Amino acid sequence: MSIENFSLDTDFVRKQFPSFQDSLSSKWSFFENAGGSYVPQTVINKLNRFMISTKVQPYASFDISRIAGEEMDKGIKFFSEMINARQDEIIIGSSTTMNMYVLSNALRYLFKKGDEIIVTNQDHEANIGAWRKLQEFGLIIKEWKINIHSGELQIDELKKMLNEKTKLLAVTHCSNIIGSINDLKKITKIAHDNNTLVIGDGVSYAPHGFPDVKELDVDFYTFSLYKTFGPHLGLLYGKKEIFDKLPNQNHEFLNNQVPYTLNPGGPNHEELACLVGIAEYFDDLYSHHFEKINLSRYERIKKINHLIAKHEENIGNLFLDFINSEKKIRLIGINKIKDKNRAPTFSFTIEGKSSKETSEMLIKENIALRNDNFYAWRCLKALDIDINDGVVRASMVHYNTLNDVKKLIKAFENSKILI
Ligand SMILES: Cc1ncc(COP(=O)(O)O)c(C=O)c1O
Repeated sequence: MSIENFSLDTDFVRKQFPSFQDSLSSKWSFFENAGGSYVPQTVINKLNRFMISTKVQPYASFDISRIAGEEMDKGIKFFSEMINARQDEIIIGSSTTMNMYVLSNALRYLFKKGDEIIVTNQDHEANIGAWRKLQEFGLIIKEWKINIHSGELQIDELKKMLNEKTKLLAVTHCSNIIGSINDLKKITKIAHDNNTLVIGDGVSYAPHGFPDVKELDVDFYTFSLYKTFGPHLGLLYGKKEIFDKLPNQNHEFLNNQVPYTLNPGGPNHEELACLVGIAEYFDDLYSHHFEKINLSRYERIKKINHLIAKHEENIGNLFLDFINSEKKIRLIGINKIKDKNRAPTFSFTIEGKSSKETSEMLIKENIALRNDNFYAWRCLKALDIDINDGVVRASMVHYNTLNDVKKLIKAFENSKILI
C-alpha cells in the first residue's frame, strides 16, 4: 500500500506520552514544543530502570555495571542508525550550545588568520556565537543576512559571499523563528564546491523528522534531544574523517579516542541510557502503523518522517488559515505548509499588543506558549522586532491534534485579543 494511504494515529501517539494523562499537565494545550517536548513512557521507563537497577559507574565487569554501559552504548548506536551515521560519528553532550563551543575550539586549529567563516542572522545564537568568538584568533566573520521582508536566507546571496578564504559556513536547517526549512543539501553542495565546511543546526528541524546526514552531506550537524522527545542532551554528528583531524579537547591520555576527544566530561549517564527509549518509541510507532517488513531503523524512520510531515502539514495549515484571515496578526515566515517547506513553528506579533500581553492572554486560556526572542535575537533585530518583548511562538509537533489547534484558535476568540 502507498504511504499516502497511511495517516498518523494520534490517539495511539498520545497514549505513549504520560503528560497527556497527568493531572497537572493534561489541562494545557501544549504549544511550546520548540522549547522542549514531552517524553514518551519508554524514555521514562529507561530512566527509572537505570536509576533503580544500574546506577553505578558503567563498564566494569559486574553485571549491573556492564548493563549500564551496554544501555548507554545502545543510546548512541540507535541514534546513529536513526540519522544514517556511524557510531563513531556521534557525540552526545550536555546541549547543542556546549557541543558547538567544544567543536569551535577544536576546529579553529584547522584555520589560519584571515580565513573566513560565514554565519547567518537567521540562526539561534548557539550556531553564531561560538563561531563569532573565533574573531579573537584572527578569523574573519561574515554574515549571510536574511531578506528583511520574508525572513528567508537567499542562496544567491550566499554565492556572492563565498571565496577562496571561506573555510566554514554555519547555517540552520530550520530557523526557530521563521520556521522555513532551508535547502541544506543544496547549500552544502554549493559550499563544498568552494571547499567550505558546513555545520547545520538541526535543532528546529529534527523534532519534525530525523535527518539523513549522509544525504545532506553536511560535515557537522547538531540537534537537541530534549526537543526530540528525550532528556536534556545534545547530539553532534561529524564526518569521521574530519573528527579524526581535530585536536583532542579531552584529557591528554585520551588522545586518539575519537570521538570522545570532542566530548570532555561525557554526557549524563542515565540520560544517555534513556535515548534507547526514544528509539523504542519510534519502533512502536512504526509497528503500529506499518506491517513488520524487514527495514533498517533508518528506513523505518524515513517512513515515520513522512507520516509525521503529513500530519503536521494538516494541523499547521488549520492554524495558518486562521492567521491568514486575521489582518491584525503579523506572521513571520511562509503562510502555507506544503511538501515540508516549513515546520509548524509559528512566530507572530499582534498589532496594538505587546507579545508579552498576547502570550499572557493565551496562557489564561490554558494555552502553553510564550513570548521571547528565543535566542534568535539577531533575526528579530533584522525584522525590526523588539528583542525584549520578542514574538509569540506557537509550535507544534506530531502529538498535537486538530483539536489542540481548534482550542488555540478559540483562545484567540475567548480572550478577545484581536478586538
Ligand atoms: C534552532 C536552535 N538552535 C540551537 C539551540 C540551542 O540548543 P541547546 O539548548 O541544546 O543548547 C536552540 C534552543 O532552543 C534552538 O532552537
